[in-house]
Amino acid sequence: MNSPLYNIYKTYDQNFDLGPIGLKKLKKPIFKKIKPRYSFLGFPINLPFGIPAGPLLNSRFIKAAFDFGFDVVCYKTQRSVPFASNLYPNVLFVNTNGPLTMEKASKTLLGETESDKKPKDYSITNSFGNPSKGPQMWQEDMKKAISYAKKGQLLVASVVGTIQKGFSDEDYYDDFAHTAELAAKANASIIELNLSCPNVANEGVICYSPNAVEAICKKTRKKIGKRKLLIKIGYFTKNQNSLLEKIISKISPFIDGISAINTIAAPIVDENGNQALPGPSRLKSGVCGAAIKWAGIDMVKRLAGIRKKLKKDFAIIGVGGVMTPEDYFEYRKAGADLVQSATGAMWNPYLTHEIYKMETNNPAV
Ligand SMILES: Cc1cc2nc3c(=O)[nH]c(=O)nc-3n(C[C@H](O)[C@H](O)[C@H](O)COP(=O)(O)O)c2cc1C
Repeated sequence: MNSPLYNIYKTYDQNFDLGPIGLKKLKKPIFKKIKPRYSFLGFPINLPFGIPAGPLLNSRFIKAAFDFGFDVVCYKTQRSVPFASNLYPNVLFVNTNGPLTMEKASKTLLGETESDKKPKDYSITNSFGNPSKGPQMWQEDMKKAISYAKKGQLLVASVVGTIQKGFSDEDYYDDFAHTAELAAKANASIIELNLSCPNVANEGVICYSPNAVEAICKKTRKKIGKRKLLIKIGYFTKNQNSLLEKIISKISPFIDGISAINTIAAPIVDENGNQALPGPSRLKSGVCGAAIKWAGIDMVKRLAGIRKKLKKDFAIIGVGGVMTPEDYFEYRKAGADLVQSATGAMWNPYLTHEIYKMETNNPAV
């Protein structure tokens, strides 16, 4: 089944130009007497729920997400230079046979264009390579996107550094900070550093390198002043818990929150056992949706434990496999200050409305 938010049978550029295609045909949910009853990083919000960096490609997608009641939404990760998307297809269904353990992720998984599962059980792989139309385009569009936020709604700008010809490590870290500054100039009051994209050629997953993460956060803080700074990280195994703790103690003076998790990378093949997605460096791509919920919940619990142990005060954003209202409540119970859903929201734009209905004494629905 296709996603009404991001049409998986069209290219990234077609989605960018025409989307959100399927949402136009759907009725917007009705929220009565809605008012901000929560706070996130000091901003009043209606519900600590939204959509992470990914399916919302530009201001039209952001507007639609706000209209459907997603309150804290991320503008898809942007760069300081124009950068083309990976080749189509960018999304395939993946059959993981239940939770995607790290063991399963080390072996090949079958990627398919259709799934016979129910949308709430979907797991997919997504592989875009962080495309960007370049700051001239996205800065203007981001300003527009921010203007669409209604009372109790917030936009988060996600950014990533780009390795360019002749760049040293230091130049690369500077580019993260520079791109964050571009987002600040586009009026973003919350900026998220994407330190965890698993499928970007040459750039690698930087969130596991303490010195790099520290340098990037420090440089970015200098550039964005008092604006709120989040980092988005991948899954750290239990064996990597002391690494996670070390990174957090290094960066906590510079950041306001940690978003976890991004996708879990695995080799994706077609029915003949060949690489499923076309192009170099695309055998492995990130898996998200129902199969990774266990990992997101586990990280939120461990982040909450580390926050308590180190007596720090950063927000925790829980992401990964939030497909139903029950998943939202499970993340909140695990310690998430904010919960976000990408795959779940792609196939169920009524997710916020359904959460409201499950909240006791909620006057909004
Ligand atoms: C279509 C799609 C595009 C994505 N693009 C980005 C991105 O640009 N930046 C980023 O940090 N994460 C990106 N992600 C990862 C999500 O933000 C999220 O961390 C991951 O999908 C796990 O959440 P989920 O299980 O709710 O999908 C993307 C995910 C999807 C489904």
